[in-house]
Formats: sequence, structure tokens, C-alpha cells
Amino acid sequence: MPNPLRFALLTASRNRAVRKVVEHAPVSRNVVRRFVAGTAVDDAVRVAAELVAGGLAVSLDHLGEDTTEVGHAESTTKAYVTLLRRLAEGDLTPAAEVSVKLSAVGQALDESMALDNARAICTAAAAANTTVTLDMEDHTTTDSTLSVLRELRRDFPWVGAVLQAYLRRTEADCRDLATEGSRVRLCKGAYREPESVAFQSRSDVDKSYIRCLKALLRGPGYPMIATHDPRLVDIATTLVKRTGRAKGSYEFQMLYGIRPNEQMRLAADGETMRVYVPYGDEWYGYLMRRLAERPANVTFFLRSLATKG
Ligand code: FDA
Repeated sequence: MPNPLRFALLTASRNRAVRKVVEHAPVSRNVVRRFVAGTAVDDAVRVAAELVAGGLAVSLDHLGEDTTEVGHAESTTKAYVTLLRRLAEGDLTPAAEVSVKLSAVGQALDESMALDNARAICTAAAAANTTVTLDMEDHTTTDSTLSVLRELRRDFPWVGAVLQAYLRRTEADCRDLATEGSRVRLCKGAYREPESVAFQSRSDVDKSYIRCLKALLRGPGYPMIATHDPRLVDIATTLVKRTGRAKGSYEFQMLYGIRPNEQMRLAADGETMRVYVPYGDEWYGYLMRRLAERPANVTFFLRSLATKG
């Protein structure tokens, strides 16, 4: 059964009026701080340095999505180029890489513009000796994102993709992408999707996640297991052992601010553990998806509203 609260929050995540109210509520900042490193590139570099010093790998996301202006897509691209230079100057690469949403660099305006901007980011990443992973957004963008990925991989074979286990197509996509050197982040999926394209129940999504993970682990690629779900982390650990994979030939990934102790535990066990760290002003869509994932986060948000409002 689809969860009505999740449905409402994911609908709100794309509503401009709600966005205005939430962005200007002073309490939002407290909630945001839990999931977002800060607004400036200095914040991103500082948090990345702390995590890397603690034995974790990092993927930084300059927040923003659904750009409808060419200038905005260009400024996002420049922000990534600056970030990558700063990470290299701080000796944080290759432990720190970047994650990019193609909709933030012009995908909705023109796919070829997004490709050019992503190429500029990949060129900066190569100069900084690190990698780029393309985030995956709603299902209407999946084919376009995979096509940009294929183009980028001609010159930058280390560009990573994200596949979402809730989509019915994803098991087949995992088989296609489970090739030599192919970096694939497998997550459950964070958008509101119709039944025609996506599994709706938790148990169907979890079962799909396991089938997809098996497909990735069977191939010679580099699976990136992105989940906070304790059951899936256990199953992944068992499957990794069963397939005889060496540590370092796959990695775990979690979001900044979510299960930090578990992140440290996996790293202490010798696993590569990468933390996805968002930063920047445009935190609204990201925050709403995090609230939708867990009702307790909404309670946390409302409690802050009651005490500070
Ligand atoms: P699930 O939602 O079942 O959560 C399992 C447990 O984890 C919860 O019981 C709770 O303990 C904890 N938890 C999970 N979410 C929490 C939250 N928000 N706050 C507090 N606790 C929480 N999606 C997408 O569509 N495109 C993408 O590109 C990415 N990229 C991405 C990168 C990385 C590194 C991660 C970890 C995740 C993504 N996602 C994503 C998000 C992903 O699709 C999914 O929405 C979240 O990871 C939540 O799903 P879980 O697998 O954690 O399980």
C-alpha cells in the first residue's frame, strides 16, 4: 500500500508555493543542518575533510535540480568545477568524488546541453584525480540519463550511474550495466512513481533490490550498495561473501546525517563506506525526499516548528 504521508511530501517536493513557505520558515534551517553540510563550498570541503579523516569516502552533491534557465545550469557547472579544484587542493581526492543531477545542468532544457556541462565536470574531475556519479531522478529522465552516461563513458569510463530498485525496468538495466569497470550505485528510489513503472510496496521494492544486487554482483563491475536498511546491508554482506568478492571491489554508501554509527562500523570492518554529502542553498527538494522516507523526520521537523515558531 502506498503511504499517504510519503505521497503528500513527494507531491509537495515539486510544489512551488509549499517550497516558498518551507524555505522561509526559520526552523527549516535546524532540520536542514542535519542532512546538509552547509550552503558554501567551504562547508562542503570542511565536512568532506572531517569524514575522510574518519576513514570514510565521500560523494559531494551541489544541491539543485529541475533547472529551467541556461544561466543557472552554467553556474551549477562552474560550482562543481570550483568544488573539484578545492577538493584536489585539499588532498581530498580520490576519497572525495562528486554526484551530479543532470536536471541541475540543463537536462530539461536540452539533453545535449546537459551532456556538455557534465563533460566539463568530468574533465575537472579527471584533472582532480577523482570520479563523478550521475544521480538518477524521476523515471521520465531514466533513458536520457543512461544515454548521457553512455556518451560520457566513451571518454571517462569511470563515470558512475544510479539505478533505482523500485523501477520495474531496473533488474534488466543492472544486467546491462554490470560490465567491466562499470560503477553502479543501487538505491531503492526516492521519487513518487506510478504503479505502471514502479513497485509500490516496501516488500516488492526490497525483493527487487536483492535481485538487482545479485545481477550487479555476478558481473565484473563495481557495485555501490546505497541503503540504510539494516536488513539489506546484512543480505548484501552475505551475498558479497558468497560471490567471493574482495573488499574494495564494491562499496557501501549512505546519506550524510543518516545512521552515522553504522557508517563508522562498516568502515571499521574494512569496507569502503562512502557518505553522500549535499551542500548549497537549494536544499528544498532534497529535504522533502528525506522527510518522505521516514515519518520520524516529520515529527522532528514539527517539533522544531513548535519550539522555535
Ligand atoms: P528505507 O527507506 O527502507 O530505510 C531503512 C532505514 O534507514 C530506516 O528504517 C531508517 O532507520 C533509516 N533511514 C532511511 N532513510 C532515512 C531518513 N531520511 N532519515 C532517517 N533515517 C532514515 N534516490 C534516487 O532516487 N536517486 C538517487 O540518485 C539517489 N542517490 C542516493 C545516494 C545514496 C548514497 C543513498 C544512500 C541514497 C540515494 N537515494 C537516491 C535515496 C534512496 O533511493 C532512498 O530513498 C533512501 O536511501 C532510503 O532508502 P533506504 O534504502 O535507506 O531504505
